Amino acid sequence: MLAFIGGTGLTRMDGLTVIHRHNIDTEWGEPSAAVVEGELAGKRVLFLARHGDPHVLLPHQVNYRANVAALKQAGASEIVAVNAVGGITARAPTAAIVVPDQIIDYSYGRETTYFDKRIAPVVHVDFSWPFAPSLRQRLLSALSKVDAQAINGGCYGATQGPRLETAAEISRMESDGCDIVGMTGMPEAVLARELELPYAMLSLVVNPGAGKSDREITMEEIEAVIHAGMGKVCEALTALVADA
Ligand code: HPA
Repeated sequence: MLAFIGGTGLTRMDGLTVIHRHNIDTEWGEPSAAVVEGELAGKRVLFLARHGDPHVLLPHQVNYRANVAALKQAGASEIVAVNAVGGITARAPTAAIVVPDQIIDYSYGRETTYFDKRIAPVVHVDFSWPFAPSLRQRLLSALSKVDAQAINGGCYGATQGPRLETAAEISRMESDGCDIVGMTGMPEAVLARELELPYAMLSLVVNPGAGKSDREITMEEIEAVIHAGMGKVCEALTALVADA
């Protein structure tokens, strides 16, 4: 079953008819919210609100291990994660929807693996290409049916938050090769890889990264873009399910 992880601006999904709410406890603790099983475009899907429902958890407070494990326990076979991001390069203008193909992780102090229980053998998963190519292609094809600017590829830089970056940090991230910046892509993506769940991301650009415009970044500005953009994201997810 296809599973969605909704980020800021996507705590509940338009068009999803709820069938069951799974209150799942995992070996790694409790997920951010109940895993919602529902019907979208006539098919069964799972949905989890990354920051809780209501939205209360900051990016570094999210129990990513419990979230990904809970989706697997509820029957997920692949995950599409949605997040709001800042744009760094010209490739990622505000309001565009990026399907990234790479990640650089700048976050710290998070639980980043399921393999820390001293079980033999030690496992090092391959993460050269963090996103599942075929799921990315399906997402791009779904996005082509929606009136939105879709961007194929880009590097997602995962920062710790909850504060936004300094202009110098964004400039360093740009030299590193990052196109977009967000706070939740890691360790979520690698945990999905460890559980062998194909994973891809839809990143809605909601503001220019720090120092990339001459205005201060305000929550009002971000919320206005999120409001319009998440509607398009939901349309794309519905098209993805309809095509599956
Ligand atoms: N930086 C980090 N995370 C974000 C941003 C940003 O500018 N915008 C939305 N999420």
